[in-house]
Amino acid sequence: MLNVIDHIQTGRDRYVAELGHFLAIPSVSALPAHAADVRRCAEWLGDEMRRVGLENVKVIETPGNPVVYADWLHAPDAPTILFYGHYDVQPVDPVELWESPPFEATVRDGEIYARGAADDKGQVFMHLKAIEAHLKQTSRLPVNIRLIVEGDEEIGSAHLDAFVRDNKAMLAADVVVISDSAMFDRGVPSICYSLRGLAYFQIDVRGTTSDLHSGVFGGAVANPAMVLAQMLAQMKDRSGHIRIPGFYDDVLPLSEEERAAWQTLPFNEKKYRKDLGAPKLFGEPGYSVLERVWARPTFEVNGLLSGFTGAGAKTVIPATAMAKVSMRLVPDQDPDRIAGLFEAYLRKVTPKTVELTVTRMHGGKPWITGYDNAFVQAAGRAIEQGFGKSPVFCREGGSIPVVSTFKAQLGLPAVLFGVGLPDENAHAPNERLDLGNFHNGIVASAYLYDEIARAGRDPRVSS
Ligand code: BES
Ligand code: MN
Ligand code: MN
Repeated sequence: MLNVIDHIQTGRDRYVAELGHFLAIPSVSALPAHAADVRRCAEWLGDEMRRVGLENVKVIETPGNPVVYADWLHAPDAPTILFYGHYDVQPVDPVELWESPPFEATVRDGEIYARGAADDKGQVFMHLKAIEAHLKQTSRLPVNIRLIVEGDEEIGSAHLDAFVRDNKAMLAADVVVISDSAMFDRGVPSICYSLRGLAYFQIDVRGTTSDLHSGVFGGAVANPAMVLAQMLAQMKDRSGHIRIPGFYDDVLPLSEEERAAWQTLPFNEKKYRKDLGAPKLFGEPGYSVLERVWARPTFEVNGLLSGFTGAGAKTVIPATAMAKVSMRLVPDQDPDRIAGLFEAYLRKVTPKTVELTVTRMHGGKPWITGYDNAFVQAAGRAIEQGFGKSPVFCREGGSIPVVSTFKAQLGLPAVLFGVGLPDENAHAPNERLDLGNFHNGIVASAYLYDEIARAGRDPRVSS
């Protein structure tokens, strides 16, 4: 292992330069204008996998963006890792708020700034460099590994369930490894054992066939913007409790042990509030901030659109109003069941004065696992070697839809070891990745393969 680590230490500058090429490709999955860039990014990634010494590299077509696959399977007695990540990124708007161009990786104060730096290109690249170090230094890996890196994660991974279902043999493994989340805090590495799920909708209401003069017609018809606001206002009570009947039925209650464990995490509520610039925090009574974000479901308005919003004043009754809303779900809520409950309640609170259209957008199931298995312990030791500290265990509020699919379809446990930081602006302007965490992450990943190989030889986990 020591010469593999030496190899990594001498590669530091090269890794940053190479990551810059990956980050330069604007693989924005949400925007049709970037379709060719997304494809180019998949090809670049395939080439990079070949360069680091991986085999059977394939850029596989799906009804969405390609999945990039590669493997190295020459460790007959060792376990097999299925590594998952995504090469697509979020849009960059509002682009004027970026301090350097989002697709020109720029290093400032030990951080690399670019869209995708933390979510998820930087973290995928960290594993490629750990694999490269093993293969270049020793011509082998301690484990077998299969990698799939997808291009639709940021738009809901709509085609990945079918992909997993149809490619079970190609994805056969003992454990899933993912680096697509954040550490608990600067200097506090963590392993994530639960993710929230998601159900996302667009709501359109129409009042009349055309916008109307608000003097000539005002008073005789309902105003769709107002009606939509009133409908949305009925989704939650003033304390933040969601009013959709049946919504909380399947919510797994928090155990006292879990609550007690979270109390010991180094979390400073005052600093959290200040960093967010919020005058006051808001959330469900009876739950701490971490509990609200990690273990309770939410209802959120992501966007609202109606009527005249330009400079000056225009007297108008808009014909339509639109909202994008989403619910973060926790174990054991099911997105399909929640979608049904939500639509039924929405129809119930819609007055007869407007026509309602509900469009279901993406979704994903929540995921939770125990963290007492040998693979997670192995990851803990690897993180200790990379970061000089043993990890804390946390849940996350975000979603990675395919993780529950890996469990349901392939029966696989997952180890979520992320090296981003909560304040690295994923999905926001000036996304960045701390280069210290990036380099430590490469070292930890290199150890991870070694530790998983050892764990796999443990008779308690051989399956
Ligand atoms: N990497 C994130 C998910 C994440 C963020 C996990 C922070 C843990 C901590 C992922 O790329 C993401 O943004 N997912 C979307 C999923 C959605 C589009 C279905 C999300 O959570 O909004
Ligand atoms: Mn991600
Ligand atoms: Mn993301």
